[in-house]
Amino acid sequence: MAGEQIIEEKKQGQALLTDAKKENSKKVFIESYGCQMNLNDSEIVASILSDEGYNTTILLEEADLVLVNTCSIREKAEQTIRKRLEKYQAVKKINPKMKVGVMGCMAERLKEKFLEEEQIVDLVVGPDAYRDLPNLIEEVVSGREAVNVLLSKEETYADISPVRLNSNGVSAFVSITRGCDNMCTFCVVPFTRGRERSRDPKSILREIQELKDKNYKEITLLGQNVDSYLWYGGGLKKDFDKATAEAQKNAVDFAKLLDQCATAFPNMRFRFSTSNPQDMSLDVINSMAKHKNICKYIHLPVQSGSSSVLERMNRKHTREEYLELISNIRKLIPECSISQDMIAGFCGETEEEHQETLSLMEEVKYDFGFMFAYSERPGTPAHKRMKDDVPQEIKKRRLTEIIQLQQKHGLYRMQQFVGKTVEVLIEGNSKKSDQHWMGRNSQNAVVVFPKTGTEKIGDFVNTKINNCTSATLIGERI
Ligand code: SAH
Ligand code: F3S
Repeated sequence: MAGEQIIEEKKQGQALLTDAKKENSKKVFIESYGCQMNLNDSEIVASILSDEGYNTTILLEEADLVLVNTCSIREKAEQTIRKRLEKYQAVKKINPKMKVGVMGCMAERLKEKFLEEEQIVDLVVGPDAYRDLPNLIEEVVSGREAVNVLLSKEETYADISPVRLNSNGVSAFVSITRGCDNMCTFCVVPFTRGRERSRDPKSILREIQELKDKNYKEITLLGQNVDSYLWYGGGLKKDFDKATAEAQKNAVDFAKLLDQCATAFPNMRFRFSTSNPQDMSLDVINSMAKHKNICKYIHLPVQSGSSSVLERMNRKHTREEYLELISNIRKLIPECSISQDMIAGFCGETEEEHQETLSLMEEVKYDFGFMFAYSERPGTPAHKRMKDDVPQEIKKRRLTEIIQLQQKHGLYRMQQFVGKTVEVLIEGNSKKSDQHWMGRNSQNAVVVFPKTGTEKIGDFVNTKINNCTSATLIGERI
């Protein structure tokens, strides 16, 4: 999709006034950058702070506390945040009592250095330390700087009900795992988010029930690598072998979790993100096929179409194995849409290897894509052991070729819906006109159609698709 490749760097929205306690008198302005996980973490933080007497505000100028949830995935994401800190500096001149905290991946990566490098920052808190925020804030209010970047082997925030921020009231995120053990050589996430942990399925189902009670209609189960979900009573995934036979027998993997969610909430729609090809099992695909309310859409990042590049990336599967997975998905769920993440110009990437990426794309014809030029991240295995040796212009040219091909395939996939009837969950007004609704079909394609006066936000309606662009289906209610 055009422009989608920059989603990570884009601000994902400011906090709106929420259902936090009304008697709260202090105001926190929370801003999230990066992935959906960060957005969900900000909601957890809003919940922790609500108990401490903070309401969220959308006005930076009136905030007692500003928290920015940061992203380290590429250098550009970090630069965006540093620019944003300059803006806070300007506001602090008008509102000198305002305190500024950084959370998330950049906080974890830079630790105390953040305080030295950015004068405006009073507080640094890593992704596993949000429960400590009340203490850290107390320190800061008493005029001291505060840092907690400890990573945890257990923390899943399972008992905290997130305060939904910037929500359309229809779809919500529910985290199911934290951290990542995969160690893809280019990726900073295992260092900033720590070891992989799964959340108790009971607490997941409880949170979904709460959302259902508030009339939410669609849940996206979140994790860096959802297919790796494994609950056997708590503990790290890598210690599963040491668990008792009983615990192993009753373990819940991702396929079972999907099954439990879809069965317990037949009128809710379920999505999940992100899948990792090496961990996606046939059981997961079968669970998806079995339940109408699990959306037929898989975000399946591949990063490269070349087995040699995949090996350098430590992706643990070959091009052929990936294509076999795609073929199984198509066999079991013919209507499934599939999207990719691609990295152009990884260390040592030859022209031939780049061509293999383009040919893989030709074979799969992805519905959507999120595409990036390789950005070396300090401390990662690629940074330590490999050379970022593809010249910038070549990276850019290869990225453009990948994006252009994706646009062609995106349009092709959208055209396949023309003439068909699809079920849409209405999310709100179309961006271009309040006479039209906007929603998504099961395959995650955006559908726009004229209002008829008989439907409302949160309804599932059938629309016939008459036309499309590369990013939108245009339909009418039937
Ligand atoms: N857990 C997901 C990816 C999380 S990061 C997975 O299984 O792949 C989101 C995307 O950012 C990645 O898929 C990758 O395409 C991109 N990315 C990560 N590190 C990057 C880097 N150093 N340079 C460029 N893109 C990167
Ligand atoms: Fe990063 Fe690979 Fe995990 S891309 S988030 S290390 S699956």
